Amino acid sequence: MSTTLIRGGRVITATDDYLADVLLKDGIVHAIARDMAVGPEVKVVDASGLYVLPGGVDTHVHLENVIGPTITCDTFASGTKAAAFGGTTTVVDFALQTAADSPLEAIARAQRSAEPQVCIDYSLHCIVTRVDAQVLADVKHAMRHEGVTSFKMFMAYPGVMMADDAAIFQMLRQVGADGGMVALHAENGTVIDLLIKEALAAGHTAPRYHAMTRPALMEGEATHRGIRLAELAEAPIYFVHVSSNQALKHIVAARDEGIPVFAETCPHYLLFDDSVYSSDDFEIAKYVMTPPLRTTDDQNHLWRALRYDDLQVIATDHCPFCMKEGHLGYQLQKMRGKDDFSLIPNGAPGIETRLVSLYDIGVMQGRLSLNRFVQLTSTTPAKLFGLFPKKGTIAIGSDADVVLFNPNATQTIHAEHLHSQCDYTLLEGRTLQGRVEKVFLRGELIVDGAEWKGREGMGQFVRRGEVRAF
Ligand code: URP
Ligand code: ZN
Ligand code: ZN
Ligand code: ZN
Repeated sequence: MSTTLIRGGRVITATDDYLADVLLKDGIVHAIARDMAVGPEVKVVDASGLYVLPGGVDTHVHLENVIGPTITCDTFASGTKAAAFGGTTTVVDFALQTAADSPLEAIARAQRSAEPQVCIDYSLHCIVTRVDAQVLADVKHAMRHEGVTSFKMFMAYPGVMMADDAAIFQMLRQVGADGGMVALHAENGTVIDLLIKEALAAGHTAPRYHAMTRPALMEGEATHRGIRLAELAEAPIYFVHVSSNQALKHIVAARDEGIPVFAETCPHYLLFDDSVYSSDDFEIAKYVMTPPLRTTDDQNHLWRALRYDDLQVIATDHCPFCMKEGHLGYQLQKMRGKDDFSLIPNGAPGIETRLVSLYDIGVMQGRLSLNRFVQLTSTTPAKLFGLFPKKGTIAIGSDADVVLFNPNATQTIHAEHLHSQCDYTLLEGRTLQGRVEKVFLRGELIVDGAEWKGREGMGQFVRRGEVRAF
C-alpha cells in the first residue's frame, strides 16, 4: 500500500481550517503536521492553493434499485465511479425488502451485487415495507451482526412501499432502543394517490401534474405524524428529502422542544424551483422527482434551516432514469409516462455534482461557511448513520478518504462529461465555481483530474455502529 504526503493544503473539517501536510499511510490519516519531512519512498502531492476535505458521505443514493417496474440506470459500478469523481468516497444505498423476502435476505442480495462493482466504500439502509415478529427479529440481527443500523420506511407509494403508522411506530420503538435510526419518506400516500386519480380522470396527463398532485401540505402532514410517532416511541427519527417549509416548520418546532428529529435536503431543492413546471412539455419529466420542486420561498426556508442546524445533511437522492427510449439498452424509463405522468419513474441524477454545486451556490454565494459545507456533506451524515470517525473527518486514525478541491477553478456541466449512465443532468450547461482535483480512498488515489485510477470492487462494505446523533 502506497504512502502519500499531501503537502501544503488548507485542511477544512467541520470545525477546523488550517494549513498543514497530511500523511496518508496504511489506509488511514497517519500524521498531520506543518513542514513534515519524509523519505524518498513517500509520494508527495503538492496541494498548495487547494482545500483538503474529508471525502464526501452521501447517505441517500439509489444504485441498481428496482423501483416499481423499472430499475435505476446507474449500476453500483457506474454510480460509485460518478460519486468518486464528484468527491464522494462513501455512499449509503438501499436494500429493499420485497413482499417475498426478509430484511436479511434483502441485505445479502444487495451486497452480492454491490461487492464486485463498488469503486468507493458503501453501506446499506434496509427498506422495510412490512413488519411482523420475524421482520423485527431480522432487524435486530441486522443491527447486531450485519452492521446495518438504519432502516427506511415510506409513508407514500401505497401498495408498493407504504407502511402504516403502526408498522412505523413498531420499527421506531425497537430500532431506537437498539441505538439505530429510522429514516422516513414523509408524504401522505393515500391522499396523494386520490389526487393523482382525479387529475388523470380530468385529462391532466403531462409531467407537471406530478408536482400539482403532491402538495407541500401533505409532506407537512406526514412529517408531523412521523414526529409524533417518534416522540411516542422515544426514538430519534430522520426525514429524507425535505423540500418544503410545510415539513420544515414541524421539524423546527420539534427540535425546539428537544425531540431528536434530524433531516436532510437535496441539492435539487436548492438549485431549482417549481417554475420549471409551467409547461405541458414532456421534457419536464426530468424534474419528476418526489417530493417535487417547491417555491423560492421554500428554498429560503431550507437555506435558513441549513444555517441554523434544523437541517443537518445534504444528500443527493440520486435516483437516475434515462429520458431517451432504449438508452443503454434499458427498456422505457422516463418515457413510460409519455401519456400518463403517474407512470414516470420518480427521481433525478445528482451523485457527481453534489459538492461542486453546493460549493458554488452555498459557499461562494455566502450562504454556508466552508466548515458548514463539510459538516453537511460529510461529517454529520457520517455521525448520524454510525460511520464516524472512520468516515466524515480528517483526523489521525480516520480512513484516508481525502478530496483535493480547487476553489478557484470553474467548470461547465454537461451530461456527456459526467460518469453517471443517465442521459441527462439537471445542471446541463451551467457553469459552477470549484472543482474536484484529486480523490483518495483509504489512501489510494482514485481520481486524478479527469483520469480514473480506481478499480471496480475496491470499495468496502462499512459495518456501521450506533448513531451518534446527540
Ligand atoms: O423521486 C424520488 N425521490 N425517487 C426515489 C424514491 C424516493 O422516494 O426516495
Ligand atoms: Zn423518498
Ligand atoms: Zn430516495
Ligand atoms: Zn448517453
